[in-house]
Amino acid sequence: MKRTSQAGIDAISVYLPRTCLRLDELAERNGVAREKYIEGLGCRSMAVPAPGEDAVTMAWEAASSLLRDYEVDSESIGMLVVGTESGVDHAKPVAAYLHGMLGLSPECRIFDVKHACYGATAALRVAVDWCSSQARDNVKALVVATDIARYPVGSPGEPTQGAGAVAMLVGCNARCAVLEPFEAAVHASSVMDFWRPDYSSCAIVDGKYSVECYMKALERTWRRYKKTSGLELDDYDYLLFHAPFPKMVRKAFYRIWGMEKATAGEGDPAVTARAFERYCGPATWACCRTGNLYTGSLYLELASLLASERQRACGRRVGIFSYGSGSCSEFFSARIGPDAAWWENRTGVSRALELQREIDYPTYLEYRKTAEHMNTNGSYRAELTATGTHRQAVFLGIRDHKRIYSIRKQPSVRRQECSSHHGPAHIRQAL
Ligand code: HMG
Repeated sequence: MKRTSQAGIDAISVYLPRTCLRLDELAERNGVAREKYIEGLGCRSMAVPAPGEDAVTMAWEAASSLLRDYEVDSESIGMLVVGTESGVDHAKPVAAYLHGMLGLSPECRIFDVKHACYGATAALRVAVDWCSSQARDNVKALVVATDIARYPVGSPGEPTQGAGAVAMLVGCNARCAVLEPFEAAVHASSVMDFWRPDYSSCAIVDGKYSVECYMKALERTWRRYKKTSGLELDDYDYLLFHAPFPKMVRKAFYRIWGMEKATAGEGDPAVTARAFERYCGPATWACCRTGNLYTGSLYLELASLLASERQRACGRRVGIFSYGSGSCSEFFSARIGPDAAWWENRTGVSRALELQREIDYPTYLEYRKTAEHMNTNGSYRAELTATGTHRQAVFLGIRDHKRIYSIRKQPSVRRQECSSHHGPAHIRQAL
């Protein structure tokens, strides 16, 4: 078995739905103070999938952009793993639909991994290990995180909804983020903090308890990773924490800072706030506008960091905390690649945010209703078109118990990032 120390994420590309709902409008409709959502949760808007968008179409948008923008030879992909908790079928994985729609080689292992938001990290682990065990250096795995976060209308979880997909190419000579060779710290515990029964399209959550479970898992994995890696807080340049809502990242950082720095006399609120900006700001400017992507949230942060820090991030160390309810969590670290030119204009984050347009509350409700109908009525076929939506893959409905997808052909134009007015400044405004 070949061992390599350069395995990790070679390319990354984000897709976000083109529509979003402002949280101040949602707060007004729910009879809640707008400050509770905007300041209390740290979020300004949430991505809302249009009818005709599901885990498959979003995964296709992210993955096809990655293949096109980084000019990947799809024949080099020997494994496709999808991390999702928004599967569209109890048997056929999202990976199978995606494999067909991308036209990947038949000599490719394909499967989904499910463990709430941890699913993409589990998929990444499998992909890295698989690449490292292959005889050839140039084999690649494609990992896609794709989800729609949905809670009941009017529930406390509703303002933390979101949707999107993140595609990652995994290989042995990774140019975006190389996983460090230390033993990752994992923590598993069967808890009922958040779950979605088979009969429900919405998650059920014990909100406050879920925050406690997250924090407990963070403390444990942080302590263990410190021991196995020998790394101290000062050894990290950036920290990424799973972001169910942006304020959770702040809570996580403050907990770690408190554990490590309070006794060192650096517990002063201004010092802590500045440290938070430095460690977490460059990664969290986009999630304030998208809400929870479930499996993709953490990797949206990685893409945001690459897009905003560019050359400054090169060679830097990132601490990464992944949490999936239920629960399993993991702390690990990675080194950002040496050349920002490789990912510049290719992560898709700024472009996706630029393309977002706001919808009003009645439209949001209509989208939810239509999506529910399309996914539960086996004879329904929607007359939907992707025209004008800047997306190409569309779920048209179910016919003969089969899901029907359509892909609109578009001239291949590489997306341009434009991070001049997106970036860390946003987080100051929104968090
Ligand atoms: P809640 O009960 O509606 O809100 O639910 P709250 O009363 O806790 O208030 C939220 C914050 O707003 C608080 O801030 C308030 O003080 C503040 P904090 O004290 O926590 O810093 N607040 C205000 N601020 C300014 N002005 C005001 C005002 N009023 C209140 N007027 C909860 C919040 C997060 C529980 C809810 O949104 C929820 O259930 N969300 C979904 C679950 C979740 O995101 N859990 C996170 C951990 S679990 C996880 O990350 C896994 C997950 O991603 C799923 C997966 O793994 O697949 C969810």
